[in-house]
Amino acid sequence: MSDVSTNAPQAKYRNDYQAPLFAISETDLVFELDDHQTMVTNTMKIQRVGEDSDLVLVGENVSLLKVTLDGRILGESDYTQTEKDLRIHQVPDAFVLEVMTQIDPANNSALEGLYKSAGTFCTQCEAEGFRRISYYLDRPDVLSVFTTKIVAPKQGFPYLLANGNPIAHAANDTHHSVTWHDPHPKPAYLFALVAGDFDVLEDHFETQDGRDVLLQIFVDKGNLSRAQYAMDSLKRSMAWDEERFGLVYDLDIYMIVAVDFFNMGAMENKGLNIFNSKYVLADAKTATDQDFINVESVIGHEYFHNWTGNRVTCRDWFQLSLKEGLTVFRDQEFSADMGMRSVQRIQDVRIIRSHQFEEDAGPMAHPIRPDRVMEMNNFYTVTVYNKGAEVIRMLHTLLGENGFQAGMRLYIDRHDGQAVTCEDFIKAMEDANSADFSQFRHWYAYAGTPQVQVHYDYDVERQEGSLVLTQTTPDTPDQKDKPAFHIPIQVEFIDDQGVSVEVHVNDSPLDLIELTEREQCIRFKGPKAPLIPALLGNFSAPIKLIFEQNEDELLAIMRGASDPFLRWDASQRIYRNSLLTAIHEDTDVGLSEAMLDTLSSVLKDAKQDAALTALLLQIPNEETLAQEFDIIPVADVVRVVGELRALLALALKDELMFVWERTDIANAGLDSALISQRMLANTALGYLAFHHDDAQISSVLKQQFYHSASMTLTFGALAAAVHADHPLCHSLLDDFAKKWQGHALVMDKWLAVQASAPDWGSAERIDYLTHHSAFNWTNPNRIYALLASFTHNLGQLHAQDGLGYQLLESAITRLNASNPQVASRLLSPLLKWKRLPEALQTALHDTLVRLRKLNNLAPDLHEKLSQALEEK
Ligand code: TRP
Ligand code: ZN
Repeated sequence: MSDVSTNAPQAKYRNDYQAPLFAISETDLVFELDDHQTMVTNTMKIQRVGEDSDLVLVGENVSLLKVTLDGRILGESDYTQTEKDLRIHQVPDAFVLEVMTQIDPANNSALEGLYKSAGTFCTQCEAEGFRRISYYLDRPDVLSVFTTKIVAPKQGFPYLLANGNPIAHAANDTHHSVTWHDPHPKPAYLFALVAGDFDVLEDHFETQDGRDVLLQIFVDKGNLSRAQYAMDSLKRSMAWDEERFGLVYDLDIYMIVAVDFFNMGAMENKGLNIFNSKYVLADAKTATDQDFINVESVIGHEYFHNWTGNRVTCRDWFQLSLKEGLTVFRDQEFSADMGMRSVQRIQDVRIIRSHQFEEDAGPMAHPIRPDRVMEMNNFYTVTVYNKGAEVIRMLHTLLGENGFQAGMRLYIDRHDGQAVTCEDFIKAMEDANSADFSQFRHWYAYAGTPQVQVHYDYDVERQEGSLVLTQTTPDTPDQKDKPAFHIPIQVEFIDDQGVSVEVHVNDSPLDLIELTEREQCIRFKGPKAPLIPALLGNFSAPIKLIFEQNEDELLAIMRGASDPFLRWDASQRIYRNSLLTAIHEDTDVGLSEAMLDTLSSVLKDAKQDAALTALLLQIPNEETLAQEFDIIPVADVVRVVGELRALLALALKDELMFVWERTDIANAGLDSALISQRMLANTALGYLAFHHDDAQISSVLKQQFYHSASMTLTFGALAAAVHADHPLCHSLLDDFAKKWQGHALVMDKWLAVQASAPDWGSAERIDYLTHHSAFNWTNPNRIYALLASFTHNLGQLHAQDGLGYQLLESAITRLNASNPQVASRLLSPLLKWKRLPEALQTALHDTLVRLRKLNNLAPDLHEKLSQALEEK
């Protein structure tokens, strides 16, 4: 008997779903809070709804003190307790069960269940954290009405919060209590409790039906002013959801609590969101424009979950994308409507291409609706979230806004108050539109990134053209020989004058191709002039398009396409081609005069949108380029990306200086024009900093660093210096640390900028920084800033000396014991050992094998390692 097999976590399969055998109509909780001995009394009204059997409740890391059934204290013979469950024998059809447990929040470093974040008690129950509080039917299809009483010392805990509305208060000399009642039945993963001392920012929102909602944001004392942007974002979210989706808030109070220790971004607990403080606190002095944008987007995301997630929830965790894909789509649309739609879209596409395509090509590839899960925390992925959102977006593209909204209304009408599946969502979209999405459902079922190969032909004389599209989807672990997908491909055409023109199929304009066959030919009629097709407008499907177009054609698209995404994409294809040529031919990287002229004229054109200009100038990074290879030539990739940066810095120096000088560094305002201007200034400075011996550029760096009004520009200057390894980077890093020591969220930027720098961010430097006072092994934000950033630094992570692997191995070993969820996130970029050249491959494989043999390997790591090492 090997201990590996007996302790091995078990996989669960989507197809094994079984409805619950019991319902819990009411759940009454009493918490007597204490750092190490919190007592939880959980009184449940339970009814049998399935076949005759024992009641099995799950629990983890809880000490069972007492079980009472209908008032009778149960003895040892009435139940069986194992490490993970509590089986109560021969229960009646309807009964009241009271379970008393004791837990230790102050030693809960995994940050799941009830834990202490600095001085604050808080909870995180998604996905399976409630079982660390009490024995329960901890599954999303068991919905219950919760009443929660919290008892705590008055000293240190003036605020006692839970879901719903407060219904009772009590106090003696030392302690007090508040009781909350949530009228909406909910699964346990949406339960929340908070106890602590805060400053509270209050406001109100009047719903479209005239109800007044009290809005409260709880932050650490002294931080009130940094919560204002979050509050404004919340009000914008509420108004937008009414306006665009017709969805109105349903309680009288909406609370948000910011905590410093949190594994993820935020959590949509009913009426009581708990947020990582990094997505609440923002002011111009300490936050960059991107931080403000992130706050708005996460506030929106959690708010939108109130309908897509809470009112209509998931039947089981395999359906996670039902709520996450849809809610990410909604938050992306919210951000697009609030800010710059095309910039938002390009940023979203960059995430898909750099991270989701990578995941889809690795050992943990999974469909947006996975079939097999060992540790649910491993499936809060860019596939489930972001590819899930792309799948929803394709439905939106196919149905149009009106058809999509009709589907949404039917979905909500049908399923309000229920726990449902992805199938229920797609069925509602079909029924509301009399559409047939049988083939479209493959997007839910299959992993891997479909590739579409394009052949194009146009006969100017006959004014007739054709596009032949061929699709294939690569095999992924467990899935081979995939069927053809239903793929919407938006198209436009550029004529010889460089402008976008219409072509026709049977007299109607061709702007959307619905590819459904493995191979499909589209014939169209156009003008009496050469035509250049520009395909996959707005990134209308999460696919790889393989279409060789020459540089003249790409430049025509870059200058003339009406779709800003296509203009940007053409620039990226030109960069990619020159990077790949330099690797394949082992030559220096070059860019054509025509491309440089185009960039130059874009930079000089004051009418161009500054943000889009910045995006055009940003070349693919090392990680993105690495995707082009089955075996990644790490050193070559790092060389050519560095060369292209230097080339642009040299060739466009005057133009870059010209746009930099146009920037208003004294105005920290947050309107789109100023944000765009700062984005361009930072991009320009990022290149200019490669001129190490230029006095003018040194003075520009210093001016932007020391004398600008917003953190965006201050930090932009620091990032430019560090990433270009400019001689000033030492003094700027020192001065930044002196000024911001003690401001953890700001120091996270200081850690991250070093960890992501090609030259500066060596494993030795990162190792040194783990001993810096700005770093802390117990706080996920610090670990993500330093170590997760390092895992995306391709050259340094995969350095020849193996120090990158060593650093990560020891970090993951340490975190396996304290916070497996965070350890597992650091592990993902290491799983692709098979894609590295031989020496690195061996070193990385050995690292994974050693990790696999760790004592008490957490299920999170077990799942990924066994998958990557291809254990049967
Ligand atoms: N549902 C949360 C979201 O909207 C995700 C989340 C927050 C989460 N905290 C978590 C998931 C902890 C797993 C574990 O994004
Ligand atoms: Zn979410």
